[in-house]
Amino acid sequence: MQTVSFLTLGCKVNQYDTQVMRETLKKAGYMLVKDDNKADIYVLNTCTVTSISDRKSRQIIRRLRKNNPESKLIVTGCYAERRPDDIKKIDGVDLILSNKDKPFIDQFINGLLDNSCVPELTENIGFHPHITNFYDQTRAIVKIEDGCDSMCAYCIVPYVRGHIIKSRPIESIIKEADDLAKNGYREIVLTGIHLGAYGRDFSDGVGVVDVLRAIHKVDGIERIRLSSIEPMDVTDEIIDTVSELPKCAHHFHIPLQSGSDKIHSLMRRTYTSSDFENLIGKIIARIADVGISTDVMVGFPSETDQDFTETLDVISRVKFSRLHVFRYSPREGTPAEKFPNRVPDRITSRRSDEAIVLGHRLMTEFFSKMIGETAQVLVERTREGKDKLLAGWTSNYARVLIKNASDDDIGRIVEVKLVEFDDNHLIGSITP
Ligand code: F3S
Repeated sequence: MQTVSFLTLGCKVNQYDTQVMRETLKKAGYMLVKDDNKADIYVLNTCTVTSISDRKSRQIIRRLRKNNPESKLIVTGCYAERRPDDIKKIDGVDLILSNKDKPFIDQFINGLLDNSCVPELTENIGFHPHITNFYDQTRAIVKIEDGCDSMCAYCIVPYVRGHIIKSRPIESIIKEADDLAKNGYREIVLTGIHLGAYGRDFSDGVGVVDVLRAIHKVDGIERIRLSSIEPMDVTDEIIDTVSELPKCAHHFHIPLQSGSDKIHSLMRRTYTSSDFENLIGKIIARIADVGISTDVMVGFPSETDQDFTETLDVISRVKFSRLHVFRYSPREGTPAEKFPNRVPDRITSRRSDEAIVLGHRLMTEFFSKMIGETAQVLVERTREGKDKLLAGWTSNYARVLIKNASDDDIGRIVEVKLVEFDDNHLIGSITP
C-alpha cells in the first residue's frame, strides 16, 4: 500500500482542501501517514498570498526532494495555480495540480503511478467535496463558499481562487456538519474565500445566517464559529443571530487593513474607518464579551506616517483582542503592483514592529479582564507553555492553558476558572 504525507501552507480554506484530498486518497486505498513523515508520496498544498509564501513553497519542494529522492512529489494549491512554470523549473516535481483538481487527486496519482495518462478534467458543476474528519484537529473547518469578487487592489486571491462566488448548497453543509458531529467534533469553523458573500449566487435568498441557524440544530455540535468576514458583509442580522443563538462563538475576525480612508480607497475597500468603528460599536453593544480580531496591512504604496498613525489610532480605539500584522507584498498582476510611492522596507518593518507591540498590549488588556471569570473551553490536543499544559480556546477566542485537564478532556468543552495571564495565554483549572 502506498503511503502519503501532506504539508499545507496558507489559510483555513487550504486546510479544508487538504482534508478533502486526504479523505479522497484514503477511500482510494492509500495509507495516510502523519504530516511530513516518511512516505512514498508527498503532497504539498501551497499558498501565494505574499512573496514569503512563494519562497516557503519553493523551499519545502527542494527540501522534500532532497530528503526523499525515491518518493513522488505532488505540488498543488495557490502557488501551483499561479506559477506552475516556476515549479516546473525545480527539479523533481512529479505532478502539479490546480486548485480545482484537488478533489480528484486520486485519479491523478493513480495515473502517475501506473504511467497512464493523467485525466483531463472539466469542471464538475454540482460536485461538492465532503469531509467527515479533520486531521489532527479538535475543531473542524467547513468550507461553505469559494471565489471572491471584491478585487482589492493588493490581493492575489481572486486570481487563484476565481472571482465568481460559488456557494455550497445548505443541505451539503448540514450533512457535513452532521457527519463531523457524529465523529466527535464539537466546534465547526465556517470558512470561505469570501465568507460573507455566501448565497449571493443563489436565487432563494439563503445566506450566512441560514447556515448558522441550520448548523445550530445539528445534534452534537456545541459551537459554531465564523472565520474571517469582511466589514461590509457583517449585517445586523448576522450580529443578532450570533448574539441570540447560544452555540455561536462570541468572536468575529474582521479585517481592518488600514485606519486611513485614503489607503482604504487606494486598496479599493469600500468602507471608511468610521464605518468600521460604528460596526464594532454595534457588535459590542449586542455581545458584551465578544472578542474581535483583525488583520492590518502596513507599508501599502503611498502609506505615510500620518496614515499609519491613523491606523494605530483606530486599533487603539477599537481595542482588538488580537491583531495580525502583514507587510504589504507586491503581487504581480494586481493593480497595486503598479502603484507608485512604494514604502521602503525599513519603514514597513518599523511600522510592523510598532503595530505588533500595540496589538500585544491590547491583547493583554483584553484577556486580563477575563481573570476571575469562568469560561467554556474546547480542549485541544496541543500542549503549550513552560509546563506543557493542555490548551484550548474560549468562545471569544482566548487561548487558555488548563492546569488540571487530562487526555480524557480532549475534544470536550469544559468550564474553566481563569486565574492568570502569562503573556500569550490565560491560565486556569476545570471547575469541580
Ligand atoms: Fe494562500 Fe490561497 Fe489561502 S493564496 S491564503 S492558500 S486562498
